[in-house]
Amino acid sequence: MSLMKEASSEIQRFPEANGAVGDNGKYRKMYDRIAPFYNVSNKLYFRLKFGGEAAYRRQFLDELEIPPGGRVLEVSCGTGDNFPYLPENIDLHGLDLSLGMLNVCRRHLRRWKRSASLYQALAESLPFEDDSFDTVCHVGGINFFNDGAQEVREMVRVAKPGTKIVIVDETERLASGTYEKIPFVGSHFKNRADIRIPLELVPEGMLEVQVREISGGLMYCLTFRLPGTAPQYV
Ligand SMILES: C[S@@+](CC[C@H](N)C(=O)[O-])C[C@H]1O[C@@H](n2cnc3c(N)ncnc32)[C@H](O)[C@@H]1O
Repeated sequence: MSLMKEASSEIQRFPEANGAVGDNGKYRKMYDRIAPFYNVSNKLYFRLKFGGEAAYRRQFLDELEIPPGGRVLEVSCGTGDNFPYLPENIDLHGLDLSLGMLNVCRRHLRRWKRSASLYQALAESLPFEDDSFDTVCHVGGINFFNDGAQEVREMVRVAKPGTKIVIVDETERLASGTYEKIPFVGSHFKNRADIRIPLELVPEGMLEVQVREISGGLMYCLTFRLPGTAPQYV
């Protein structure tokens, strides 16, 4: 059995991910290709720019509200690099379009001695029941999804009443100042509309809508809360 098959055996796969078209198809191929180098280059970049990966990730992961033993979903988890910063006593779920990224994630989980349920699926069509997660977040990706509004609706659908949703992605400054200039990858980020912080994607009726720039204006962090009774924290 090849390493690829062995690594993918515990990832639940949904066929629409491999059949993704438009920007989703384009970025799935790109992430499959760069998956083996993604962490190394990211870690180097975070160290040079933000004083390390922990400092970078804490800026938005500290926004998450995670009850002990809570059911936590990261949409577009990639290689799982946020997972080591989350508490250990949780029921962790990570979903991504790219099998290449998820295979690396699976290897990371083994190395970190952590477990998570992984899914290769589209953020725009989450394979989960309504009102089933205590914590729902998304880091990186939504700016270039086929349908960001549908992803946000799906995050809201699967979150329990009262849940705080956290969405993080790059600003135009990072996309045009850095991404477009990266060899081999840069062309994927050209010929596109300018990035705007997608406040208009927050569905009507959501509470405590807040947005702030982080990482010196290179990223944004958008948060809001579903109406209803918030989970009890002890
Ligand atoms: C910049 S990476 C972020 C990975 C991780 N969240 C992190 O913080 O390092 C963006 C991820 O979004 C995934 N992605 C892109 N489009 C997607 C879609 N429509 N549905 C689900 N995942 C998607 C890519 O495969 C990639 O792994």
